[in-house]
Amino acid sequence: MNFPWIFLAVAALTVIVMATVVESQHDYGDALTKSILFFEGQRSGKLPPTQRLTWRKDSALRDGSDNGVDLTGGYYDAGDNVKFNLPMAFTITNLAWGAIEYGKLMGPDRVHALEAIRWGTDYLLKCTSIPGRVFAQVGEPYGDHNCWERPEDMDTPRNSYYVDTNAPGTEVAAETAAALAASSLVFKTVDPDYSKLLLARAIKVFEFADTYRGSYNDSIGKVVCPFYCSYNGYQDDLLWGAAWLFSATNYFRYWNYSYKYWNYVKDNLSNLGGTFAEYGWDAKHAGVYVLVSKFMLNGSDPFEDFVLNADRFACSILPESPTRLIAYSSGGLMFKPVGSNLQHATALSFLLTVYSRYNRRAGRVIDCGNGVTATPSRLLQVAKSQVDYILGSNPLQMSYMVGYGGNFPQKIHHRGSSLPSIDSHPERLKCQDGSLFFNSPEPNLNLLVGAVVGGPDILDRYNDSRFDFTHTEPTTYINGPLVGLLAFFKKQRFV
Ligand SMILES: *[C@@H]1O[C@H](CO)[C@@H](O)[C@H](O)[C@H]1NC(C)=O
Ligand SMILES: *[C@@H]1O[C@H](CO)[C@@H](O)[C@H](O)[C@H]1NC(C)=O
Ligand SMILES: *[C@@H]1O[C@H](CO)[C@@H](O)[C@H](O)[C@H]1NC(C)=O
Ligand SMILES: *[C@@H]1O[C@H](CO)[C@@H](O)[C@H](O)[C@H]1NC(C)=O
Ligand SMILES: *[C@@H]1O[C@H](CO)[C@@H](O)[C@H](O)[C@H]1NC(C)=O
Repeated sequence: MNFPWIFLAVAALTVIVMATVVESQHDYGDALTKSILFFEGQRSGKLPPTQRLTWRKDSALRDGSDNGVDLTGGYYDAGDNVKFNLPMAFTITNLAWGAIEYGKLMGPDRVHALEAIRWGTDYLLKCTSIPGRVFAQVGEPYGDHNCWERPEDMDTPRNSYYVDTNAPGTEVAAETAAALAASSLVFKTVDPDYSKLLLARAIKVFEFADTYRGSYNDSIGKVVCPFYCSYNGYQDDLLWGAAWLFSATNYFRYWNYSYKYWNYVKDNLSNLGGTFAEYGWDAKHAGVYVLVSKFMLNGSDPFEDFVLNADRFACSILPESPTRLIAYSSGGLMFKPVGSNLQHATALSFLLTVYSRYNRRAGRVIDCGNGVTATPSRLLQVAKSQVDYILGSNPLQMSYMVGYGGNFPQKIHHRGSSLPSIDSHPERLKCQDGSLFFNSPEPNLNLLVGAVVGGPDILDRYNDSRFDFTHTEPTTYINGPLVGLLAFFKKQRFV
């Protein structure tokens, strides 16, 4: 008669253990599905019949017509309706990198992740169809930002802007080349013809970026600044482009290029303080080091510098590291000074998972000094803590992803989400007509599922208000690296 008691006791213990585990875990699969769905809400152009966020409709169907080209498609950047190509291309590069590393783990979401990439690359192909010219933006930011309008009935100027051989813009051209090259790897087996098209274009665009060097500040600064000014210059973008072209082609010339160019820039970089630890749409040095490390962790050659810098990057993040450069809130969220803080948490965490993987493969442990080591699993723990924070493991127990969990932002700073859909309000809403909805104390009318907002302040506080755009606006480059991260943690639950 003892047996059932033992059985029950074991069963009860199991329940307790499981409950603890379940409580500290999130439904990464659900979050992954939603993080990709967000990109459908940001689509510009003619929507396909497969569109799942059906409150969005066709928009901006004449983009490019001022320059006699078709620039329809692509993504609206954030809560506004401008297409800024530098952050957009960086977003695509991250989506592609996530699919390259973790696509196999995505299950049924993979096909949607590939659609999200392709929606971006189809647009980037249009932007680069004329040799020696790269379109860099559609929409006039001041006109756009002065109105609170649905993309579907925008009447603000939709001017298109480009860089070319006379007025170069190396940042946007090199990042566009990186996005096309990275995406060519994603489509290599699923659509070889498309993959070849992307790669051939990437090669040409990189050549343009490298041959005609100059900051896009100096050619189209009046429209990209101060929104997406290049603060950091274009050297990192060139290295990044070359590294992705090497990944996609294995051509020695890109390897050689990275090495030569690295020697040329490294002394200057060493004067730039913590630049090696940056990874975002403007500065992407840490991404270069991690990506290049993949190819040289087996060896033995002068690229050692890249691995050393990737190690420095990792040690700049680890909370216990003596060379830590990043701040953490007391709730455990990474903080960097530039707005929309969650872009840093997702991008840096994505890099940590990738670098963890490369190091695990190479059997390496990073030495951060003072006896602190960064093992591959420690890097994953840090990345996971950020994902968990975003999904609700934080002092406010708030999910920062719209539609995920029971408590998430209701009044995000996003025009389309806050204004009634064409379905319920077919009449045009003009520039100022939106103010009523902007000022409303009510939740947004349309759920922009999967949108991750800028996030809380450094005291872990969050004010759910459309006025507070630094914290309540979603951006494509917050979600870009998050998609791969969620795919990874969906399979790697126990870090
Ligand atoms: C671009 O312009 C901004 C703002 O004026 C400036 O801070 C930055 O240094 C410029 N960047 C380059 C690469 O010229
Ligand atoms: C590699 O770089 C070296 C030094 O600049 C140059 O002489 C050589 O031609 C390059 N090789 C290739 C294949 O590009
Ligand atoms: C590095 O700095 C030197 C001195 O300021 C400058 O002349 C050179 O152009 C810089 N190189 C690059 C690649 O920016
Ligand atoms: C390893 O290093 C050798 C020599 O540096 C290089 O030829 C080879 O391509 C590297 N392997 C990988 C997987 O990158
Ligand atoms: C939150 O935002 C509202 C609207 O802008 C503002 O009135 C309120 O003071 C803010 N609260 C905090 C704590 O910042």
